[in-house]
Amino acid sequence: MGVLLKISTIETLYYDRIYALHGLSLEVKEKEIFTVLGPNGAGKTTLLKTIAGLLKDQPNKGTIEFMGKSIHRLPPEHISRLGIVYVPEDRGLFRELTVKENLDLGCWGRRDKGVKDDYEFVYDLFPILKERSKQQAETLSGGQQQMLAMARAILCRPKLLMLDEPSLGLAPVIAHQVYDALLEISKAGTTILLVEQNAKMALRIADFGYIMETGRIVLEGTSKELQENEDVQELYLGVGGERVSPKGWRLYKKRRTW
Ligand SMILES: Nc1ncnc2c1ncn2[C@@H]1O[C@H](COP(=O)(O)OP(=O)(O)O)[C@@H](O)[C@H]1O
Ligand SMILES: [Mg+2]
Repeated sequence: MGVLLKISTIETLYYDRIYALHGLSLEVKEKEIFTVLGPNGAGKTTLLKTIAGLLKDQPNKGTIEFMGKSIHRLPPEHISRLGIVYVPEDRGLFRELTVKENLDLGCWGRRDKGVKDDYEFVYDLFPILKERSKQQAETLSGGQQQMLAMARAILCRPKLLMLDEPSLGLAPVIAHQVYDALLEISKAGTTILLVEQNAKMALRIADFGYIMETGRIVLEGTSKELQENEDVQELYLGVGGERVSPKGWRLYKKRRTW
């Protein structure tokens, strides 16, 4: 499959001096699910915001190409018009508007005949949104709000759907529903870039993953390769259980290789 998004050695800074991304490179291929995993503070949100053009004058260095063309420092409206749609961690809903009004904003400006089909697709995916269509978004549960944010994004017909920690704060059974829906969205042909702290969940559905620590990619591979990597197992998947010393320190079998 072709490369949809190509990021080369980007640097992103806050306040011109705090480096959040240090020469980061990655690729996202068409029709696949790519995930970026890493602990809190690694720079995952900064990466998505940089791609979406939401950080003024960033990236400071490096290039970002989407469908073979540079999107470097384009305004965010322009980037979203090209088909990069971002579901932020806080979901970015209009809390006082109804579910249906939020959805209508997703397809705002669309004139094509596919809108009706897309509504059918999202209502099939998340029947609860049809049931609750007249309810204010803020009255939905966290999981339902995540579903609404994803549904609204799909109604923009994204070429690349980027999600920031969609499982955060959700009960495991709800998080699994959200993830099953992501698989369906992917099967319907949308390319997905998913950022997560929950490596187990993300690697279950992703084709390819990057591990990010302090603004750099430290390891990359297919989901299978990452799931089989001992360091990933120990640090991100909790395989073998956590071994704790009598003084309460976490014990690692060995130093990670990156
Ligand atoms: N608005 C901001 N101003 C200054 N520093 C920030 C800002 N947002 C994030 N950072 C810093 O950038 C680094 C990466 O943060 P972030 O991208 O939010 O990581 P993650 O999403 O992986 O938790 C952290 O050190 C964080 O403190
Ligand atoms: Mg984050």
